[in-house]
Amino acid sequence: MTSVEIAPSIAAGNLLRLEEEAVKLERAGADAIHFDVMDGHFVPLLTIGVPFLEQLRQKTKLHLDVHIMVSNPDEVFEHYLNAGADTLTIPCESARHAHRIVQGIQGHGKQAGLALNPGTPWEFVKPLLPNLDQITVMGVNPGYSRQKHIPETALKVKEISDYCKEQGLSPRIQVDGGVSDKNISQLFNSGARNFVAGGFVFGDQDAAEAIALLRQTALRKGTA
Ligand code: DX5
Ligand code: ZN
Repeated sequence: MTSVEIAPSIAAGNLLRLEEEAVKLERAGADAIHFDVMDGHFVPLLTIGVPFLEQLRQKTKLHLDVHIMVSNPDEVFEHYLNAGADTLTIPCESARHAHRIVQGIQGHGKQAGLALNPGTPWEFVKPLLPNLDQITVMGVNPGYSRQKHIPETALKVKEISDYCKEQGLSPRIQVDGGVSDKNISQLFNSGARNFVAGGFVFGDQDAAEAIALLRQTALRKGTA
C-alpha cells in the first residue's frame, strides 16, 4: 500500500499554545510535525527557533521535520540537531557547503533534507540526490503560511521523481507550501509522498478531518 505522509506545519497553528497544538496533531493522525524556522534574513519573517524546538521535543514523540529557512545553515544546523530534529531540511540556496551539511546531519544519525525554492532548478541538487533522505520541493516562495500554491510545482516533482526512478534513488519527495485537497492528488501522482500542510490543517475544519481528507484525496484514483 503506497503511503501518504502528512506533516502539518505547526507555524500555521497557535504558537502561543505550541504544546496543545502538538498534542492536537498527534491525536489528529499527523505523521510528523513540520517545524518552520525563519530567520528574517533568508525569508522576511522571524518565527521560532531552538528553545521552542527543545521544549516541543519534550512534549511529543512525533517525528520532528525541521525546516530551517536561514541564511547561515552551515553555522547553525547542529543546534537544531541537538535540539531534537529528526529530519533537518536546509535551503540549497543559502548552504555554502550543502554536501558537508548533509554529511553532518547524517553523522548525527538524523535524516537530511534539502529544500528547493520555486525559482531554483531541481538539477541544482542533482549531485546530492544520492545522499539525501528527503528532497523538499517548495510549493510557495518561503516565508509565510497560507499562500497560494504555485501550480508548476507538480512538474518539478515529476521531473525529480522520474530521475530518481531512473537512477534507483529513493529520497522522500516532500511538497511544502500551499498543499490542499485541490492539488494533493496531482502532486501525489507526480511522485510526492510527503506533504506539509499548514493553513489546510489549521484552518476552519477539524485537524483530523483535514488530514484524513488530504490522505484520501491523494490516493483517490483517476483525479488529476
Ligand atoms: C513556508 C513554510 C511552509 C508553510 C506551509 O515558508 O516553509 O512550511 O508554513 O504552510 P501552508 O501549507 O499554509 O503553505
Ligand atoms: Zn516549511
